[in-house]
Amino acid sequence: MPKFPRFILGVSVAASVLLVLPSIAQAQKTKKPAASTTKTLDQRLDELIAQMTLEEKIGQLNQYTGDAATGPAVTDNNKLSQIQKGQVGSMLNVKGAARTRALQAEALKSRLKIPLLFGLDVIHGYQTTFPIPLGEAASWDLAAIRQSAHIAAREAAAAGQHWTFAPMVDIARDPRWGRVMEGAGEDPYLGSQIAKARVLGFQGEQLGGTDAVMACAKHFAAYGAAIAGRDYNAVDMSERALWEVYLPPFKAAADAGAATFMNSFNELNGIPATGNSYLQRDILKGQWNFQGFVVSDWGSIGEMIAHGYAKDNKEAALEAITAGSDMDMESRSYGPNLPALVREGKVPEALINDAVRRILRKKFELGLFDDPYRFSNEKREKQVLADPQSRAIARDVARKSIVLLKNDNNVLPLSKQAKTVAVIGPLGQSKTQHLGFWNVSTDSTQVVSLYEGLQNKLGKTAKLLYAKGCGITGDSQAGFADAVKTAQQADVVVMAVGEARDMSGEAKSRAEIYLPGQQEELIKAIVQTGKPVVVLIMAGRPLIFNWTADHAPAILYTWWLGSEAGNAMADVLVGDYNPAGKLPMSFPRSLGQIPIFYAAKSTGRPSANDKDTNYRSAYLDMPNSPRYAFGYGLSYTTFDYSGLTLSTKQLKKADKLTVSFTLTNKGKYAGEEVAQLYLRDVVGSVTRPVKELKDFQKVMLKPGESKTITFTLDQDKLAFYNPSMKWTTEPGEFRLMIGSAASDIRLEDKFELVD
Ligand code: GLC
Repeated sequence: MPKFPRFILGVSVAASVLLVLPSIAQAQKTKKPAASTTKTLDQRLDELIAQMTLEEKIGQLNQYTGDAATGPAVTDNNKLSQIQKGQVGSMLNVKGAARTRALQAEALKSRLKIPLLFGLDVIHGYQTTFPIPLGEAASWDLAAIRQSAHIAAREAAAAGQHWTFAPMVDIARDPRWGRVMEGAGEDPYLGSQIAKARVLGFQGEQLGGTDAVMACAKHFAAYGAAIAGRDYNAVDMSERALWEVYLPPFKAAADAGAATFMNSFNELNGIPATGNSYLQRDILKGQWNFQGFVVSDWGSIGEMIAHGYAKDNKEAALEAITAGSDMDMESRSYGPNLPALVREGKVPEALINDAVRRILRKKFELGLFDDPYRFSNEKREKQVLADPQSRAIARDVARKSIVLLKNDNNVLPLSKQAKTVAVIGPLGQSKTQHLGFWNVSTDSTQVVSLYEGLQNKLGKTAKLLYAKGCGITGDSQAGFADAVKTAQQADVVVMAVGEARDMSGEAKSRAEIYLPGQQEELIKAIVQTGKPVVVLIMAGRPLIFNWTADHAPAILYTWWLGSEAGNAMADVLVGDYNPAGKLPMSFPRSLGQIPIFYAAKSTGRPSANDKDTNYRSAYLDMPNSPRYAFGYGLSYTTFDYSGLTLSTKQLKKADKLTVSFTLTNKGKYAGEEVAQLYLRDVVGSVTRPVKELKDFQKVMLKPGESKTITFTLDQDKLAFYNPSMKWTTEPGEFRLMIGSAASDIRLEDKFELVD
């Protein structure tokens, strides 16, 4: 969690409000002024850059933190006077219209009056907190995900922010890595779709509105493949894996118009991403023609010394600017060293000019040169942050993120006749925990706990009991007896277990990803009472909970759901919302299976099933299959898949394949199903995964209703990187699978791709 030491900048909040009062009155009279000139943006850029000294240019490449540290704490280095001299281009962790206005006023004292960019980690909400991104990914609902990002942007922009350091689009296949909570899981296709939705949600169709902020695709690249799931650890992978698995969501973000990228802490194949020209210049700014700018991660330029890639900050600055890292977040390498490097002829001033131009272009596009205070309007901030509609939408996105893992004997939805409901577990009355690791809003009193959500839902018809049972961590079972006694008084028990929010997130890798503490023992004690038990697991990552999976009759995976957590969970528990979430990551049975993911290779000795181990690629002591598969999630109803048809069995190159089937709701609840389409290219010039997600549709069906679902596959969905890394298709057999999960294929057919 960001720490919030008080006056890093030496300018107290009180003083800053005094500083800005006159200009607030003045600003509130003005609308967004039309551009103050008929000159083109490039003309304005040329003119401004021509006036700038080398120090002023390098000042634009400098980013400092303001009121919080979201990395190794730093000492103040007299930032305020640097801001006043135009030696700072951006500030992060400065919150609120008043605060940002005050600092903007200081920046406008500089010779050229170049406004600051304000950035913040608005990862899943600003004032209204939405589910953690991995939870939202479980909704597979791109419209909902986009709307969530839009509301986050609208609130952040109203509170003075120009820029969010999101979406995090790192593919992750190792749940020991704490930052899985921040992304969209293991799959490049789903991850790419979600990356696009989030960028468009944050930025809108075009930058410049005061209800949108710049997005930042991060962390470029392959940060999620840290060896052993240990944060910041080295990454070593083939070119093929990089291009097939880890780059696609970044490409999708760039194609969606992401204004900025953030590079990553890790080294990639021996070269730190921050100093990696292949990533930043060849791929991003070269092949992908990216016109935005790249910000380093916190201190990552200077960390190239620790990597053993630079001998000091001067060499780190040289490596980073040469490799295409445009802005230095808090490593303080650029400011003190780039002027000398340019004057010594080691860094062409053209590189500085390119970086400055990229950054200033965004300031122009945001309208900051026409009105530097346009995002810092306290009246708008108050209105937008108080909008009740935002919480209503947050509740809806939260419900959509919940995954039903098990529901034996239809324990769920809870009977409306239940007279006494016991909420048991250390997370039953939690509020703060639902905010997740990267929350911005600090008012956890506004979060609805599970207990409160059930109170709101059932308070008039049922009696609610509560027992904590045990801590999230710790060995004490002292609360068990009381918890068992409480359970025995109830018609049904709702258990709330999982991680603390700071057990996932940055620098929160865990080697043992079980339910922490005595929580699974508590579940055992409650299940052994014989009462109907529903277990809600709240966490930022896949956890291992085999006893619970085998013995608890019903399990909901609720991630961290944000401000409306309790109401969303209650909606699902009583059946006012039929859960439709699907897992965006495989859940392992054992640590020994990690990394585990569905798009695996066949091998020369594939294991046909969990018992087929004789001279097979399998474990002696554990099935190959995950506990719960990618794409898995149940509903209160059931869906039938039938009538698969393909437009052809001989698909010519350049033609498209139309696939259709009938989806029927066989149960008594209306509900949504995420129908998933997987392909396998059976024989290739390089081996291909046994299945790859190529499309999906989320469909609402009333009881008994059927719909024809149609997918269209273009050639790009059949393509892959051949041995010389050329993106191409090859003739041959493809297996087509339609399923409710990677492990639950309902319809299958094959077709031939012919020249
Ligand atoms: C952190 C994170 C990054 C974040 C940045 C600013 O270290 O790695 O995701 O955006 O610093 O807080």
